[in-house]
Amino acid sequence: MNIEDVEIRAAGIDDLAAIFHLGERVFTSQDVSNLYRTWDEYEVTGLFNSEPEYMIVAEIDGRGVGFAMGTTINKARSAWSYGHLVWLGVDPAVARAGIGDMLFERFKEIMQEQGVRMLMVDTQADNEPATAFFIRKGFENPTDHVYMTLNLQKED
Ligand SMILES: CC(C)(COP(=O)(O)OP(=O)(O)OC[C@H]1O[C@@H](n2cnc3c(N)ncnc32)[C@H](O)[C@@H]1OP(=O)(O)O)[C@@H](O)C(=O)NCCC(=O)NCCS
Repeated sequence: MNIEDVEIRAAGIDDLAAIFHLGERVFTSQDVSNLYRTWDEYEVTGLFNSEPEYMIVAEIDGRGVGFAMGTTINKARSAWSYGHLVWLGVDPAVARAGIGDMLFERFKEIMQEQGVRMLMVDTQADNEPATAFFIRKGFENPTDHVYMTLNLQKED
């Protein structure tokens, strides 16, 4: 694979099925699951519907090999606008070739154009590829976050 052959572009309606199916392959293992978000059709269609400008794809010769998608968050009483990179995925067949990097850099540019001043990502603590990737991109202050569950169906 030649990195010069990779094109990063805005996602369109015709890309959604391919993004979804690539995500099914990429977000399968336990360590990329996330308690409050699950990869399903609605992640793709919902984000495309609400904020299509933050959905981009990577392709080689017309074949989708990666995607990034996210959202912006404006907090009350804060002048800052935050960007959240919600899903970033690269086809394992072309991993570690710089495609995640290209997607991230384009995503960051789009966020900057929108006036976003801080980007956020989250991933499971044991997702080492993603953690290494984000630290390499300059993310800092990883914060432990404890999730707890309460089973409301359990009868005492
Ligand atoms: C994280 C991910 C997007 C990186 O994509 P990529 O195209 O392989 O990344 P790049 O080639 O641009 O960057 C590679 C860097 O990422 C890190 N990295 C990627 N895969 C890694 C692995 N298996 N182990 C350790 N570090 C890894 C390294 O820092 C690496 O740099 P190096 O090759 O110089 O050591 C990809 O591994 C992926 O899709 N993972 C599954 C989905 C996921 O966890 N997404 C993030 C949370 S939404």
